[in-house]
Amino acid sequence: MHEPVSATLPADKRERYRALRAEIAAVIAGEPSRTARYASAASLLTHAFPETYFWCGFYLVDPDKGDELVVGPYQGTLGCLRIPFGKGVCGAAAARRETIIVPDVHAFPGHIACDSRSNSEIVVCVFDAAGALAGVLDVDSTAFNSFDAVDAEGLEAICADLLTTP
Ligand code: SME
Repeated sequence: MHEPVSATLPADKRERYRALRAEIAAVIAGEPSRTARYASAASLLTHAFPETYFWCGFYLVDPDKGDELVVGPYQGTLGCLRIPFGKGVCGAAAARRETIIVPDVHAFPGHIACDSRSNSEIVVCVFDAAGALAGVLDVDSTAFNSFDAVDAEGLEAICADLLTTP
């Protein structure tokens, strides 16, 4: 039997994100496919935080629309397919181009409930090498108040690498 990925990672959350950042960068290095990069990150992140991550994946800017996100690679139950900029947490993060931490999704105006078991979430932007918004990373938890500044810092560093690692 395989050892869970989380068992080989540091217990401290900040250190765990640091180790994951290095692991993800090593896996995606030299890979030209963005899909492969997003899918690998979603998998490694989900398995690194099995106790917290209920849904983890990417909503990508639809190049045909410009102001709408379409679901990309993810781990978890069925997600909504499209989210307009400004709608829900993902759409708000895309419109503001900044990280949003939501301790209680039910208190967030316009929250989109893809799965009613989600109670808190964090959304972090992904920019390409030219600085354009490529999409957002959405992580949902069934517990309230699951994400803090350490998650934001860790995920921002990982998302900053995703499309810029050569
Ligand atoms: N929670 C998100 C919607 C996407 S899913 O939960 C997978 C939002 O309000 O942006």
